[in-house]
Amino acid sequence: MSKTGKQEILNAIAAPLLAWYDVHKRTLPWRGTKDPYQVWVSEIMLQQTRVAAVLPYYERWMQELPDAETLAAAEPERLMKLWQGLGYYSRARNMQKAAKIILTDYNGRFPQTSKELRRLPGIGSYTAGAIASIAFGEAVPAVDGNVLRVAARTAGIADDIMEANTKKLFQKMMEEAVSQDRPGEYNQAMMDLGATVCVPNGAPDCENCPLAELCEAKRLNLQNTLPVRKKKAKRRTEELTLYLLLRDNTAALRKRPEEGLLAGLWEFPHLPGTLDEDAAAQALRDWGLTPLEWRKKITGKHIFTHVEWHMTGYLLTVKGGGDDFFWADYGTLQTLAVPSAFGKFLEQVLRQMDSRGKI
Ligand code: ADE
Repeated sequence: MSKTGKQEILNAIAAPLLAWYDVHKRTLPWRGTKDPYQVWVSEIMLQQTRVAAVLPYYERWMQELPDAETLAAAEPERLMKLWQGLGYYSRARNMQKAAKIILTDYNGRFPQTSKELRRLPGIGSYTAGAIASIAFGEAVPAVDGNVLRVAARTAGIADDIMEANTKKLFQKMMEEAVSQDRPGEYNQAMMDLGATVCVPNGAPDCENCPLAELCEAKRLNLQNTLPVRKKKAKRRTEELTLYLLLRDNTAALRKRPEEGLLAGLWEFPHLPGTLDEDAAAQALRDWGLTPLEWRKKITGKHIFTHVEWHMTGYLLTVKGGGDDFFWADYGTLQTLAVPSAFGKFLEQVLRQMDSRGKI
């Protein structure tokens, strides 16, 4: 089909989509508000994260940081704690940077156009489109993975959605297709349709889709072929040996560097490679520590976008130096932002400390 034909299909989405949304829209805490701050926080949290997982984070965040002023003034450590478990922590750090800019450069008043919003840290064309359309009624699309999928299937577009050029093409086509009078609801309807009906991996629920009659993928039975997503380069694997050290009912932690993966968060001391107990003990002595009782060997895996960690953790009691580490007691450990990658290990450490505290 010609490009104009595909564009015409996309242009025809708005009416049936909005009629469907009026009946089926999900009730979510950030809906029913046009406060750009609330829309912004929800959209940033919802990147790469499912609605159900976001809900408790959103509620907690809004209780504590209800506007750009409170966000700009928040302690970075507290911010990380509020984000703990959501992943991609730079999202929270960028939000704080952006909040400070909104206060200083915009007198506390949110920029109102997608073009201006895109200048803020952490706000790309998706988030700018979502905020501008939902909070300010600007007729711009918010093209995320859901929209790419719905649009690729409906219009029968087989270009590789991992390519920057394909994303540009969809952006252009959706700029023309977006509803002019209800752009915010149009964008949220696309998100809901993508999340509940035109779902990835497996059978989309075409029986209940308001776009079924227009849909090229349905007509040609290509629902499981579209969108086309060529494989990315394989992630690399890193092996790590973690030290879960207990000393006088405190546990050793250190802060990650301020740049790079999980920047500025707390971690258990670790060394590259999978060390056996003897090699692990040698490193302990280099840190000025003497092992007392080896209690547990715990293994775990964590998958990031570009790297996969395979971890072996030794849980043991020690005495002596360890001056490079921060020794946190049970209560303190629970207030520190320790990323989910270490969650399983943290749980074991807390369990040991808890039971020892009770003895
Ligand atoms: N996913 C991304 N943004 C969303 C929103 N505003 N509502 C529901 N799901 C979403």
